[in-house]
Amino acid sequence: MDQLKRQAAARALEEVRDGMQLGLGTGSTAKHFVELLGARVAAGLNVIGVPTSEATRADAERCGVPLTTLDEIDHLDITVDGADEIDPDLNLIKGGGGALLREKIVAAASDRMIVIADDTKWVPTLGRFPLPIEVIPFGLGATRRAIEKAFAQCGVSGQMAVRRAKDGHVFVTDGGHWILDAQLGRIADPAGLAKALSVIPGVVEHGLFIGLASSAVLAGGEGIRVIERRKPKGD
Ligand code: 5RP
Repeated sequence: MDQLKRQAAARALEEVRDGMQLGLGTGSTAKHFVELLGARVAAGLNVIGVPTSEATRADAERCGVPLTTLDEIDHLDITVDGADEIDPDLNLIKGGGGALLREKIVAAASDRMIVIADDTKWVPTLGRFPLPIEVIPFGLGATRRAIEKAFAQCGVSGQMAVRRAKDGHVFVTDGGHWILDAQLGRIADPAGLAKALSVIPGVVEHGLFIGLASSAVLAGGEGIRVIERRKPKGD
């Protein structure tokens, strides 16, 4: 599996050109991309990156990839990031690694988002992977009730749990927020659910990435498939 992730990362690296400003994703697949990019930088490639998490910042620094922020530059050429699920419209569930907020800010600031994954992430319909919803700890009960109402309006239901770290403590995001993981099973209308979640006070961001991915690079036993998004970015 790790080999497949690295192959997908290597294929995405072929899209990178000298002088590009890059969004650097988070997770085990994105980490391969950062490592491979670091090797190209050591060989003379001139790029600059914006990391989507403190973990990726540390990886990029270790690999010698120069970093900047979205305050210092006005756009990114390409973001390369992993995903937890990818559907045929290239809608995504992200946030398994807890970095969905920065990942979405960076993806939205990019001309193109390339998703890299092993092909087990490709699904006909999103929802088998628990949907991460980043929330403010204050007033969590009210936020949970509003989320349940939004689920009912969108025809989905399922258990929600506050994410915990391996040590049993509540998982805290880089932004100081908590994550609710919602086991929805099948999300028939991801765009509708994304809109309904976005307007809830207390929800900082959710892991539905709608209309952000430009292409997906999927590595599997049969080789690599590149799937291009049919609709323009933002639709
Ligand atoms: C982190 C993410 C990751 O991209 C996603 O969880 C996939 O991770 P991996 O490449 O380790 O399977 O959204 O917030």
